[in-house]
Amino acid sequence: MPFAAWSALLAALTLLVMIALRPAPLPEDLFDQLTGDRSRGRLVFAASGCSSCHSAPEAKPGSAPVLSGGRGFKSPFGTFYAPNVSPGPSGLGFWTDVEIADAILNGVGRGSTHLYPAFPYTAYTHMSQQDAVDLIAYLRTLPPSPAANKSHDIGFPFNIRLGVGAWKLLYLREGWVLDNATSPELERGRYLVEALGHCGECHTPRNFLGALDTSRWLGGAPNPAGEGTIPNITSGGLAWSEDEITTFLKTGFTPTFDSAGGEMVKVIAGLSQLPQSDLEAIAAYLKAVPPID
Ligand code: HEC
Ligand code: HEC
Repeated sequence: MPFAAWSALLAALTLLVMIALRPAPLPEDLFDQLTGDRSRGRLVFAASGCSSCHSAPEAKPGSAPVLSGGRGFKSPFGTFYAPNVSPGPSGLGFWTDVEIADAILNGVGRGSTHLYPAFPYTAYTHMSQQDAVDLIAYLRTLPPSPAANKSHDIGFPFNIRLGVGAWKLLYLREGWVLDNATSPELERGRYLVEALGHCGECHTPRNFLGALDTSRWLGGAPNPAGEGTIPNITSGGLAWSEDEITTFLKTGFTPTFDSAGGEMVKVIAGLSQLPQSDLEAIAAYLKAVPPID
């Protein structure tokens, strides 16, 4: 085949790949029938741990979260920096509700780019549309921050966002990990753990492409932030009763009156705002997932 034909074929293939991998945005009328409720949104926000990544590193606990971004997340691919997602021009001020939802539910940023899964949209993709509009209504009530976004510190080929499209085809799943939730309580627990709480992002080990190894779901993992490991929270590793787990999620105290440390402190700061029935549902879910040794 002559050179020109080869280059035409290559160009056609590249185009096909680009079409296959391009982001598919959510429909613009997605929320036309829904109204966001800010006070419900505050609980979705607390359960989802948005502020643990997007609050300024020097943020004071207690005051309304300022989602100025700036925190760095080390990974084998480089360091990702959380962007400013506060209202106001440097954050999400000019984004429509559907654009914000596209980021959270679909990993698609403004201007139709793929977002990196360092942002746990692989979990949030299971969030209900009502919870998403409520959450967005709440985000719009928070204080704006003028902070500028930091660019990620990642090398080739990971700096090509189109490649994230291939990753998403492989790993952005539609289904639940626990496919047989047999009661409303287990369904609620599954929703809180697998969708909002993104517990698997820390407690499940990853493969070489950074995707969660669901065959060892919640079975414990190395700590990406450095030393130590994140504990196994299936009944193969955690011998606590459901009541003890519920108390831990509410207060941060273990059955031996140790207190939670590390990243779990921020997770509990959010979870402790949820109704008791939600924490009990999480505990019931942890008892129902397959035990990992
Ligand atoms: C584990 C840390 C982490 C958590 C938890 C998290 N985010 Fe993010 N978020 C990130 C990172 C990192 C990015 C940047 C992704 C990129 O540039 O591709 C991001 C990007 C975003 C974006 C896109 C902003 C932009 O300028 O492109 C929005 C919107 C967002 N997050 C909102 C949220 C909301 C709402 C929550 C809670 C439901 C949340 N995030 C939870 C780390 C996190
Ligand atoms: C950002 C990372 C992160 C997320 C997200 C996270 N955890 Fe944790 N978790 C940790 C770390 C780190 C520890 C160990 C804390 C310590 O050393 O005291 C821990 C400890 C725990 C423990 C105590 C285990 C033991 O043996 O002491 C339980 C139970 C737990 N997490 C449940 C959850 C649940 C349920 C969720 C989701 C709602 C969750 N975690 C989300 C990082 C995380």
